[in-house]
Amino acid sequence: MSHADDHEGTRRDFLYYATAGAGAVATGAAVWPLVDQMNPSADVLALSSIRVDVADIEVGTQITVLWLGKPVFIRRRTEEEITEAREVDVSALVDPIARNPNLSGDDAPATDENRSMADFSGTNTGEWLVQMGVCTHFGCVPLGDGAGDYHGWFCPCHGSHYDTSGRIRKGPAPENLPVPPAQFVDETTILLG
Ligand code: FES
Repeated sequence: MSHADDHEGTRRDFLYYATAGAGAVATGAAVWPLVDQMNPSADVLALSSIRVDVADIEVGTQITVLWLGKPVFIRRRTEEEITEAREVDVSALVDPIARNPNLSGDDAPATDENRSMADFSGTNTGEWLVQMGVCTHFGCVPLGDGAGDYHGWFCPCHGSHYDTSGRIRKGPAPENLPVPPAQFVDETTILLG
């Protein structure tokens, strides 16, 4: 097994065990080294707003940070992921609502444009997707990196499949993964909260 494989396996283990609930994140040293790239220290977790440096996130990868004690997925999507997300007919979605508090109103349609985030210049190319890493069924942490039938995220607890925009497409989860309050405050920093 290569080092990269080993790292991937460890990361998946963390995500899987974290499905036991938010409390699992605080279970101690076993998981903490895996979270070191997740940035915020324990005292930062208490803050309602955190800044996340995203400069080192490669296209096609994501990081998970903890905000208000819950995982937030910050993904820098590939062109393929963006295209797949934007070709979806919103009327065919299980949950047609964007679930994005950064938009005005509570009922904006779940287009990918309404779920992805604009960069610091205000342009939304779809490259950045920020969403809570909490399954809307019973709160497990979904697996990412193209997991599931729709190449986005997959929740192994009861089999919910989310697409590359974090929208629920199959399985028992009733809603899309919610987008947290988030914005770029400079070219490489996202403010959550
Ligand atoms: S908690 Fe995710 S499918 Fe049940």
